[in-house]
Amino acid sequence: MIKRREFLTLLTVALAGSPLIACAEKAGPAVQVYKSATCGCCSKWVEHLRAAGFTVEATNVADINLYKQKHGVPPQLASCHTALVDGYVIEGHVPADDVIKLLRERPEIMGIAVPGMPMGSPGMESPNPQYFETIAFNSAGPAAVFAVHKP
Ligand code: CU
Ligand code: CU
Repeated sequence: MIKRREFLTLLTVALAGSPLIACAEKAGPAVQVYKSATCGCCSKWVEHLRAAGFTVEATNVADINLYKQKHGVPPQLASCHTALVDGYVIEGHVPADDVIKLLRERPEIMGIAVPGMPMGSPGMESPNPQYFETIAFNSAGPAAVFAVHKP
C-alpha cells in the first residue's frame, strides 16, 4: 500500500512538471474563425493566434460575406476572415496583442478590424511591411482607432 502511494505521488509530481500540463493551463479564450478553404493567409493568422496562446477553432465556409453581414462587420472594414471571441467580432489580420487588449479592457464596441490585408500584419508577413491600424467598430460603423502598427 505504501509503495503504491509513493508511486502515485511521484506520478503527480512528474505530470505537474510536464510541458503538456503547462500548455493546457496557458490556453487562452476560445476563438471561432470563419474562413474560406483556399485562404492561405487566414490559416497563417490562425497559427499566429495559437502561438499567442489562444484556442482556435477554424471553420471553412462557402460564403464568408454572409458571416460578415450576420455579425455586423461594416463593409468598409472587411477583410478575408471573420472571427468571434467572448462576445466580440474580430475581422481580418488583427494582431493577437490587440485581441488580448480588447479582452482585458472590454470596451463597449462590437469588435475590431484590420481592413483589407495590409502587408506586414500577422499572417501577411512581407519584406515590405506597411503601417496599418486596428479599427474599433459598432453597429453604426467604424468608431475609433483601436491600435496603430508601425513597421
Ligand atoms: Cu488574409
Ligand atoms: Cu484571412
